[in-house]
Amino acid sequence: MTPLSDEEDVRLALETLRREIRSHEYRYYVENRPSITDADFDRLLKRLEELETRYPNLITEDSPTQRVGGAPVEGFQTFHHKIPLLSLQNVYSLPELQEFYNRIAKNTTSPPLFVGELKIDGLSISLHYRDGTLQRAVTRGDGEKGDDVTSNIRTIRSLPLHIPEGGSVEARGEVYLPRDSFETMNRLREERGEEPFANPRNGAAGTVHLLDPREVSNRHLEIFLYSLFFDGAEPRPSHRENLSLLRELGFRTNPLSRSLSSFQEMTEFIEEAGRLRDSLDYDVDGIVFKVDDIAAQKALSSTSKFPRWAVAFKFPPEEGISRILSIQLQVGRTGAVTPVANLEPLRLAGSTVSRATLHNAEEIRRKDIRVGDWVWVVKSGDVIPKVTAVVKERREGNETPFTMPDLCPICASPLEKPEGEVVWRCPNLSCPARLRESLLHFVSRDAMNIDGFGEALVDQLLEKGMVKDPADLYTLRLDELETLERMGRKSGAKILNALQESKKNPLARLINGLGIRLVGEVTARDLAMRFPTLEALSSATQEELLTVPEVGEKVAQSLRSFFSDPSNLTLLEKLAEVGVSPSPPEPSQQLSLPWKGMKFVFTGELPSLERREAEAMVRSLGGEATGSVSGKTSFVVAGEAAGSKLAKALSLKVPVLSQEEFLRLFQEAGGSWEQG
Ligand code: IVH
Repeated sequence: MTPLSDEEDVRLALETLRREIRSHEYRYYVENRPSITDADFDRLLKRLEELETRYPNLITEDSPTQRVGGAPVEGFQTFHHKIPLLSLQNVYSLPELQEFYNRIAKNTTSPPLFVGELKIDGLSISLHYRDGTLQRAVTRGDGEKGDDVTSNIRTIRSLPLHIPEGGSVEARGEVYLPRDSFETMNRLREERGEEPFANPRNGAAGTVHLLDPREVSNRHLEIFLYSLFFDGAEPRPSHRENLSLLRELGFRTNPLSRSLSSFQEMTEFIEEAGRLRDSLDYDVDGIVFKVDDIAAQKALSSTSKFPRWAVAFKFPPEEGISRILSIQLQVGRTGAVTPVANLEPLRLAGSTVSRATLHNAEEIRRKDIRVGDWVWVVKSGDVIPKVTAVVKERREGNETPFTMPDLCPICASPLEKPEGEVVWRCPNLSCPARLRESLLHFVSRDAMNIDGFGEALVDQLLEKGMVKDPADLYTLRLDELETLERMGRKSGAKILNALQESKKNPLARLINGLGIRLVGEVTARDLAMRFPTLEALSSATQEELLTVPEVGEKVAQSLRSFFSDPSNLTLLEKLAEVGVSPSPPEPSQQLSLPWKGMKFVFTGELPSLERREAEAMVRSLGGEATGSVSGKTSFVVAGEAAGSKLAKALSLKVPVLSQEEFLRLFQEAGGSWEQG
C-alpha cells in the first residue's frame, strides 16, 4: 500500500472507502444480496476505522463507523414536528372499508387508484436529512412533538446515514423489532431475571428509548420507510412514485405494497396479506390503504387527527390480556407434563381462547406467573395460544404462585425429571392420560391415518375398557362399536374398514405411530428406508442407528430404550398377531436420497397439495424444505398469490416451479406419494 501523504489524499481515500462500505451495507441490509463475504466486509470496515483513528479530524458524522457513536445519553430532547405525524382512522370490517372507498370515489374526479401497504406493528419515526446527512430521528410522540432518539436510530444498519440528495429531506416510516431478534432479546432478559417484553412492538419502543446506543445496536432494530418530503412537500406526484424515490435514495421500503384500482382488488390484497402474515419476520396488524394521487390527497385533506385519504384495515388482534383462573396439568403421550392456563375467555385472531400453554414449570418460575395474574396471551396462525408475560402492574396481592406437584395428576405416579431437562414426566407407561394421547397419535393423519377416530370415540373406548393399547383397536367388533354413543352400523363399519386398510400402511407410518420419543414423521421415514422391517429396526445396534441421516446420539438412545422395554415388545408382538404388517418402502426408495443437499422453498397456495404434504415429499427424497429464499435455494415452488418469496427468487435468479413441474420433478427423481 502506498503511504498516504497529504491530508487531502487521505480525505479522498476515506470518502472512497466509505462509499464502498455504504454500497455493501445497502446490498447486505436492504437488498439482502451481498456481493462480498462478511470477512471482506469486516476488513474494509477495519481499514476505515484504522484510518479514522489516525486522522480523527477527518471523521464525518455519516461515516459507517459512526453508527454506534457517542456515550450514553442523559435523556431525550423533545423535538417539535414541523409537519405533525397524524394517526390513521381504523376500520375493522369490509363494509366499513367499502364506505371509505365510496367516499373517496365520490370525492375524486377519475376512478381512484390506491396503494395498499402492510401496517407494520412497530413505532413511527421521522428522519431528517440535511444536505444528504442524517441529522435527527424523532419518535412520533403525541404527533406534535416527540423524542430525539437519533443516536439509537443510527444503529439500524439498513438505514443510510447519507443519501444522495441535497437540501432538507424528511423520511417517515416504521421502526420494528424482527420476530427472531425479539425472541433472542426476551430469552436474554429472562436469563438475566429481567421482565420479558410482551410483544415485538413493546420491545421496539423499549429499545428505541434505551439510553445506551451500544445496547440498542445489539438488539437489531429494523425499519421500513413509507413517506418522503423535500422541503415539506412530496417530491413526486403519486405515492407510488414517492415510494420508488425512497428506494432510489437507498431506503428500505416494504416489498409487499401494491397498486390497487378497485374495491375488489383491495379485498384481495387483504386476503393475500392475511395468508402471508405468519411467514413474515415482523408483526403486521393490518393493511393501510392510501390514495395514490398526491393532488387528490391534498384535495381530500385531513382532520386534526387523521388524513381523509387513508385508512387502516385492522386484522383481528392476535394478542390480548386475560386473567389466569387456574393452572391445570396435561399429560402427553410421552409422559411430558405440561402446565396449561385456564383463562377468562378472550377473542384472539378470530376465535375464542380459554386455554393457553405455559410450557413448563421452569418457564412459570422464570416469568413469575401466578394464578389470578393478568397476562398477555398470543395466538398466531394455527399455533397453540401461549402466555408470554405477566402484567405485573395489575397485581392485587392475592395471586397465588404455582407449585409443580410431585405426582402425576392422572395416575399419581411420582413424576420424574432427568438431569439438565426442564420437562417433568410421568414414567408410567399405562397412565390413562398417556394411553389416550398415544392412541390419538397412533390414529392421526401423519401416523397410521385411520379415519373416524376423534377424541370422543377414543375417550369412550378407554372408559369402557375396550382398548388398552393400539393393538386392541384391531380387535374391535362391529357389535361392540354399535353400543357406543353416536355410532351407527354404517359408521362402525367404516371405522373397521379404515382399520383394516391401515394394516398395510407403509412402515414409516407405523414407526411414527408408535410414538417413540424424539422420533417424528421425518425420522420415521428415514428409519424405514434403512431398516425395511420392524424386526430389523428393533434389533439395530446404536452404531447402525447412527448411520441414518436424521438420527443422532439422543434419538438412537431413545430407540434403543424403546425396543428394550418388555411392554413395548409385547405391543409389537400383539400388533403382528392382529395382522398389522406394514409394507417396506420400494427397493428404489430405500436409502436412495436423490434430493440430498437440495433446498426447496414453498410460497403461495398450491392447487392441490398442502404445504405440509409438499414439504414431506421433499424430505422423502432427502431434500430440505426451508422457509426463506437465499442464494442457496435450489428451487422455489410458487402457487396462487405467492408474495415476497417469489419476488426474491426472481431477483436471485432461483428457478421457480409450478406445482405441476414440482410433481414431475418428484416423479422423475423416483419419489412416490399417496395423497393424504
Ligand atoms: S401511514 C398520515 N403507513 O400506523 C399517514 N402508517 O395508526 C400516517 N403504520 O402512526 C401513517 N405501517 O406508526 C402508514 N405502511 C404504513 C404504516 C403505518 C404502520 C403505523 C404508523 C402510524 C400508525 C397509524
